[in-house]
Amino acid sequence: MEALADRDYFTDHSILRDPYAFFEALRARSPVYRNPETGVVIITGFEEALEVLKDTENWSSLISTTGAGKALPFEPEGSDINAQIEANRGNFQGGDLVVTFDDTPHAFSRSLLSRLFTPSKLKANEAFIARYSDEIVRKSVAEGKCELVKQIATPFVTLVIADLLGVPEDDRQRFMDVIEAAPPPGNLDAADYPMEMHPLYVMGLSFAGYVADRRANPRDDVLTELALATYPDGTQPDLAEIVRLSTFLFGAGQDTSAKLLGNAMRFIIEEPGLQDKLRADPSLLPGFIEEVLRLEGSSKITSRIARKDTTIAGEPMPAGTRVLIGLSAANRDPRRWDDPQALVINRPRIKEHLGFGRGAHVCIGAPLARVEVRVILEKFLEATSHIDLDDAFHGPAGARELEYEPSFIIRGLTEMHLTLTPASGFETAGKDAASVLA
Ligand code: HEM
Repeated sequence: MEALADRDYFTDHSILRDPYAFFEALRARSPVYRNPETGVVIITGFEEALEVLKDTENWSSLISTTGAGKALPFEPEGSDINAQIEANRGNFQGGDLVVTFDDTPHAFSRSLLSRLFTPSKLKANEAFIARYSDEIVRKSVAEGKCELVKQIATPFVTLVIADLLGVPEDDRQRFMDVIEAAPPPGNLDAADYPMEMHPLYVMGLSFAGYVADRRANPRDDVLTELALATYPDGTQPDLAEIVRLSTFLFGAGQDTSAKLLGNAMRFIIEEPGLQDKLRADPSLLPGFIEEVLRLEGSSKITSRIARKDTTIAGEPMPAGTRVLIGLSAANRDPRRWDDPQALVINRPRIKEHLGFGRGAHVCIGAPLARVEVRVILEKFLEATSHIDLDDAFHGPAGARELEYEPSFIIRGLTEMHLTLTPASGFETAGKDAASVLA
């Protein structure tokens, strides 16, 4: 029988649904393992992952969304392939997105985004998050049950980004509908999904309208700020770049955060005593969320390609080498983490996990993701005395069935049906008057 470590990460459904044993088997061979057939290198070691993530001189992000499993559309030649990478950028899906850019184009794009993630904008956004999650949680608790991943988390995180970007309220429902209908990123079925229904395409059309309108008729809103923003050298980005950036935020911050909420909830339900502990002391939530990001982070991997002949942990890596960086494997590397498989709240130096990546491309939405997951969990815990999985959908305790997305990037449940027992004194109506639900 074929050894687990010899199976293909990118196409094997059982590994896509549960990568951990596969990553452990690879790390037992080597924390930097080269598949002899494909030539793809898989990193499962923490230090080795960090080495590549921090080294933008030798590693390009061009393949961060398509993944290291996909063959290059060119034959790497020589010890420095930078010119080939740039000449072929247009042949890579997502090659025009900030997460795949290198060097100055990356720094320029990122500088535009950093205008959105300022403390004052995040603070205003947090007020929206609190209002919306209060409303949605009260509604679910009043019903005694909910489906968390698709019906609560996905529209929740979408609306939060829409609010941050200043998307007009009338358009928000339409955005949620296209996202809900589409397969998640990295899903094997995603390639066949019609372009005109693709969320980034549909939302891109709307954003093109907003940005053109704000450039012609500036007003006092976030979209205007984005539309008029300039690069660090004072030049103005073209309209298409602003549109791509804005729409990319929905893609990048949508499934990742929604799935993290589901992954966190699974621990809350299954770890004995955990929900009562968090209810009694909500100040433990931020440390808990960091530990979930380490142990069940919703971005499993990213990928890089060697721009020049280089090394990882002293091993030679010729220019053109494709590397899969197992973020979730690095986060369980026993050389870095004591008792790595255990959930330990407030682990020492927990924020060094790689759940948000590291280095130049480290997740710019991390502060937002942390807030949205914390606030909605706070609301769920406060409004309930007990949260459990719904037997009608997931089977009885001891024989639960939960399904994970067959995605090579995302780690998260397809759906999660909960039963919610109200806390004593629970009231259906919140204190905030204005409804944010459609
Ligand atoms: C739990 C939630 C999230 C997780 C696990 C996550 C994970 C990641 C990771 C691992 C990267 C680095 C990719 C690489 O190095 O190749 C990244 C980049 C990025 N993330 Fe997140 N993310 C989350 C939420 C968000 C949110 C809410 C937003 C925005 C609203 C966002 C926007 C971005 C952007 C724009 C980048 C690219 C940054 C760059 O290339 O400089 N993410 N994210």
